[in-house]
Amino acid sequence: MLATRAKCIGILTSGGDCPGLNAAIRGVAKPAMSDFHIEVIGIEKGFRGLVENHSRVLHLQDISGILSLGGTILGTSREKPYKMPLPNGDTIDMTSRAVETYNRLGLDCLVCLGGNGTHKVAYSLTKQGLNVIGLPKTIDNDLAETDITFGFDSAVTTAALSIDKLYSTAEAHLRVMVIELMGHNAGWLTLTAGLGGGADIILIPEIPYDIDSICQHLTERRRRGKWFSIIAVAEGARPKPNLLDKDKNGKKKKKDKKNKEKERERDDEDEHEGRVSTGVARAISRRLGMDTRVTVLGHLQRGGIPTPFDRVLATRFGTYAAEMLAEGKYNQMVCMKGAEVTSVPLEKVAGRTKLVPLDHPLIRSARRVGTNFGD
Ligand code: F6P
Repeated sequence: MLATRAKCIGILTSGGDCPGLNAAIRGVAKPAMSDFHIEVIGIEKGFRGLVENHSRVLHLQDISGILSLGGTILGTSREKPYKMPLPNGDTIDMTSRAVETYNRLGLDCLVCLGGNGTHKVAYSLTKQGLNVIGLPKTIDNDLAETDITFGFDSAVTTAALSIDKLYSTAEAHLRVMVIELMGHNAGWLTLTAGLGGGADIILIPEIPYDIDSICQHLTERRRRGKWFSIIAVAEGARPKPNLLDKDKNGKKKKKDKKNKEKERERDDEDEHEGRVSTGVARAISRRLGMDTRVTVLGHLQRGGIPTPFDRVLATRFGTYAAEMLAEGKYNQMVCMKGAEVTSVPLEKVAGRTKLVPLDHPLIRSARRVGTNFGD
């Protein structure tokens, strides 16, 4: 009788790190090894590790005590096999090397923990004949086909608590404190943290802002005796396109000297000249004479330990993936729909971004409590 070969899988983390990656690795690997007798190989440094075969067999002791650990024990990178950077700045397609490593290691499936870029690569690898399972992680929460990604709650917690801290200085100095949060082209993080932190104004990419409307809101607050304000700005937030720049046929107007001067002032406030937060703060100072300060939270919101919510979510996603591995259910991304963990075909996720719908309940709630969106 032919002996059946035990399964062997690879696991990697790719894209920006986030809290919960280690909890997810543990969630996949522990049941895979203990319950389903699957050999688990850790691929290091994301897809670069797959291309260059940086791998090691994981044992139970490797994944012990990592539930609450930030970062990723496997390391990560943003590199994609079909676009590997060369020292001279060019890129090269090394997909065949990734496939080679997969075959050399004798993998039955590759589990990829990542965000949008990772799932695009994951899907492309299925087209090369690889079996892949994706797990949705990102602080941006912008992956299609899942209600939530792990890492998001931890980032929201850090960001909301940071907004809390800005209140004392805002109130003491009667300042406008502008805090810039991450989120790439989506506003989930800023919307949720802004609402949770009680920001007076929230600016997200999905709702282009008008600086006049922001100033009007601040003036109105002053009239009501509120001389300080907190503005939460997403890094991807953008101003409304300026209609005055176009003539009645929609063509760009020629600029006279006066217009040029105005344009220079506006450019100075424009996010394209630097960070969106700086542009917004400058415009407020110039127009209202208010004292403003900018805080860019940066990678502080992506680092550190996962919240208990993210530990649980990552564990649920991971253990679900382990069950899929045992069943041989491949080429899917594990996801959350309502309260249920389930999975969707990778092709439904690849290349799509989940933005905040304008009628989202969080936006409605925020407006109800007087939050302004600069629109
Ligand atoms: O996708 C996660 C994220 O933190 C985004 O919010 C942000 O735009 C980006 O990564 C920053 O990337 P990096 O750490 O490579 O600068």
